[in-house]
Amino acid sequence: MAPNPIAPPAALQAAGSGTAAPPAERQAIIRLFGVHRRYGARNALNDIGLDIFQNEFVFITGPSGAGKSTLLKLLYLGEPASEGQILVDGLNLARISRKRVPELRRRFGIIFQNYRLIPTRPVFANVSLVLEAMGQKEHLIRKKVDSVLRTVGLEDRHGALPPTLSGGEQQRVAVARAIVGNPKILLADEPTGSLDPSSAAIIMALLQRYHRRGATVVIATHDHETIRRTPGRIIQLEQGRLVSQPAAEAP
Ligand SMILES: Nc1ncnc2c1ncn2[C@@H]1O[C@H](COP(=O)(O)OP(=O)(O)OP(=O)(O)O)[C@@H](O)[C@H]1O
Ligand SMILES: [Mg+2]
Repeated sequence: MAPNPIAPPAALQAAGSGTAAPPAERQAIIRLFGVHRRYGARNALNDIGLDIFQNEFVFITGPSGAGKSTLLKLLYLGEPASEGQILVDGLNLARISRKRVPELRRRFGIIFQNYRLIPTRPVFANVSLVLEAMGQKEHLIRKKVDSVLRTVGLEDRHGALPPTLSGGEQQRVAVARAIVGNPKILLADEPTGSLDPSSAAIIMALLQRYHRRGATVVIATHDHETIRRTPGRIIQLEQGRLVSQPAAEAP
């Protein structure tokens, strides 16, 4: 069948709007209700209520110690909430059995603060580990890792050990590792924190590209320059409290 050469009016409208298009379906993939996280007497997160929608691109920002990293950790059960409810893609984290935690984790790709690569294993192995843990077949693993390393521009560094790479290159390996399993949700904790502006721009472009493939992307950062350049919803934390939560639609 010949493709219809006439663009539908909705597509023209979206193209001309000049703002980030709102998610097509406003279905929350992450929901937090009255969430607290305490460390002894310290309240790292205080009564957080928040919905993050499918295919949203969200920044969590705020000063050091505001609770950004803690909020990310609660989402993949890196740590449990002290109080409140968290739903991720239909899973209630307070009720999930230990047996189903890997099922929850497979929904996430995670880019940790300071890369967290295995320094003694080559780039290829750092990325392939994810797929091995999922029990995928060897020939498929090779194909997917080759492909994702091409995506991040490191196809010629398969055998390199992480300490021999630049910071920007190590972060690209971390991005490859986070996306190789094709997770629905990508979490990134200060992904540009220790990078020069051009490496930071490369990393952000990779995260945006993965977002365009349909993923939900949540980034904790206090890099104002990156936030300014990148369309997305900004969620602000201060001393463990949500201080502003604009609606998901673009203004
Ligand atoms: N394991 C822990 N034990 C005790 N206190 C903790 C722990 N983890 C975090 N905190 C405290 O919780 C608060 C929030 O920490 P968090 O790491 O989430 O902040 P952040 O916003 O990510 O800061 P930064 O911008 O410096 O990364 C801080 O006061 C921190 O000291
Ligand atoms: Mg942090």
